Amino acid sequence: MFNKKYYVKQFYLSLIEVLKKKDKAFVLHEPSLNKSDKLSVSKCLDSKMVSTAGLFTKKFEIKLKKFTKSKYVVSVISGTSALHLSIISSGIKKNDEILIPSMTFVATGNSVLYNNSVPHFVDINENLSIDFEKLSKYLEQISTIKDGKCYNKKTKRFIRAIIPMHTFGHICDIKKLKSIAKKFKLIIIEDAAEALGSFYKNKHAGTFGDVGILSFNGNKIITTGMGGAILTNNRKIFEKAKHLAATAKINSKWDYIHDEVGYNYRLPSLNASLGCSQLKKINYLLDNKRKLFKKYQKSFSKLNFLTLFREPLHTKSNYWLQTVILNKGYENLLTPILDKCYSKNIYIRPSWKPLHTLKFFKKFPKMNLKNTESLFKRIINIPSSSFLIK
Ligand SMILES: Cc1ncc(COP(=O)(O)O)c(C=O)c1O
Repeated sequence: MFNKKYYVKQFYLSLIEVLKKKDKAFVLHEPSLNKSDKLSVSKCLDSKMVSTAGLFTKKFEIKLKKFTKSKYVVSVISGTSALHLSIISSGIKKNDEILIPSMTFVATGNSVLYNNSVPHFVDINENLSIDFEKLSKYLEQISTIKDGKCYNKKTKRFIRAIIPMHTFGHICDIKKLKSIAKKFKLIIIEDAAEALGSFYKNKHAGTFGDVGILSFNGNKIITTGMGGAILTNNRKIFEKAKHLAATAKINSKWDYIHDEVGYNYRLPSLNASLGCSQLKKINYLLDNKRKLFKKYQKSFSKLNFLTLFREPLHTKSNYWLQTVILNKGYENLLTPILDKCYSKNIYIRPSWKPLHTLKFFKKFPKMNLKNTESLFKRIINIPSSSFLIK
């Protein structure tokens, strides 16, 4: 048995070496807001066009297109609604199975259920994203190709899509993702909610598959309060998503004609005005986050019972959330470390409870999720706001 108190203290001291002020409260991620944001939002207020018809919604989309180099962008009210529309717009139907990591925020799973599709939970690896090698072997066992689609021999349903998630901003292995999607005829919807500013071989997250999504929630690298975006190079998907996001209303001078059930998901200009000023600072924020990683790397390198997560090979990560992973054998430090930090007003967090363990997801198909279960007991996210380098 090792001395838990000693290890907890070492963790706390390494954290404080970077955070410095012991008397301050620290949350995981605060937005970076200043005068330029107030000015941009005031401009929108002055225009009185605060809803989706205002100028900033379009402006924000153009800026996002330029930054991500996605051919098409639809800005919407959240990452969750972006996922929902991406699933519908790529033609996935009721009862189709969608492969998703169990280790993700609940929105990834919920959006599958909104479409009456079936989440099929898959495992991750030490890179915190889908373990494509394990998945490939698994699909070879449980599926066969029928009518050009991947057919699940066990459940008798089609496995139509895969939603890789770029965990804490770190991009998954895109080469393996593309290869598995090709082999098993899967539509790729990238959940890049956390990955604005992350690149794989200089190409932006969310632009590798058929469609990808971003989130601009208050805790993300840039924020619009609440907000999200759909990225795609596919015109059909773009047009469908844009149409559905705006209540499926047909263009007309004055008539209200809607040709199917649509959604009121467009991002209002008021939120987009904040997005425009936020996006101007993205490179500055990315630089700061990388500097913060280096500071943590220095302070945690002395500890031999954990690893500070670093960007995978061939990727440039936005380092949205800095992540510490306890080594195997040190799982029982998780709760005492959380306790200690909370008692000092440092609100570090464990990872999400794996989705397959939540009551309403329990009945859905899953592969062996050993790595997910192990990593869940060992992941700790630490304060990651970009201003912490000061
Ligand atoms: C992985 C992941 N997917 C989806 C979402 C949903 O985004 P939003 O909160 O903007 O609806 C989030 C955001 O928190 C997320 O982290």
